[in-house]
Amino acid sequence: MSSFPVSLSELVEYVDFNQQSFLISAASIAFNPTFWNIVARREYRTKFLTKLFGGNRDVACYALAVTIFGLGIFRDFLYERALRDQPSHPALEGENVTYAAYALLAIGNLLVVASTWQLGIQGTFLGDYFGILKDKMITGFPFNITSAPMYHGSTLSFLGTALLYGKPAGILLTLHVLIVYTIAIQFENPFTAGIYAKRERERAKAAGFEEKKEL
Ligand SMILES: *[C@@H]1O[C@H](CO)[C@@H](O)[C@H](O)[C@H]1NC(C)=O
Repeated sequence: MSSFPVSLSELVEYVDFNQQSFLISAASIAFNPTFWNIVARREYRTKFLTKLFGGNRDVACYALAVTIFGLGIFRDFLYERALRDQPSHPALEGENVTYAAYALLAIGNLLVVASTWQLGIQGTFLGDYFGILKDKMITGFPFNITSAPMYHGSTLSFLGTALLYGKPAGILLTLHVLIVYTIAIQFENPFTAGIYAKRERERAKAAGFEEKKEL
């Protein structure tokens, strides 16, 4: 028994797994966070991007931001192309589903835009790994609603698009997005926490040094 008009197993029956575009979309969804985590960690360890941009970490970070943004647009393009190749489900074609879709897209985009507004471009696009650290943790909206508004907003937008097109394949790809981002968060959070802990240790050390000088 489910109050949702369609069950998950019924949805899967409306997914055409033989479409190459479906697999390509799934691959691009998994590729993006993998790519930026590998690049950002390498930057943190070796400063290879900063070196590539003549020692300017700000420019290096903006270059990575543009790359990640471009990959995101390409991923969205591949997702919409995949949905067009998939059958739609009659239960997802009603007016109410369309309204729900627009609401999800609005909330999803609000979370993403507000998060970028709060963090800035560098804060959004892995500035921490370049040594561009924020002074303090941001706790205002949208971070008082979710700890990962970027990821959760993006996931809601995927779901909104799936419902807008009425495509069960999109709901399945959204679950894939959710799993990929959940793994990414578990991978990223301890690492960034470590970057900030290191700064705190260095600050404490510097403060101790200052105290000794004054004695
Ligand atoms: C989050 O912050 C916003 C703006 O400061 C506020 O309007 C909203 O009520 C807060 N939400 C929660 C759940 O605390």
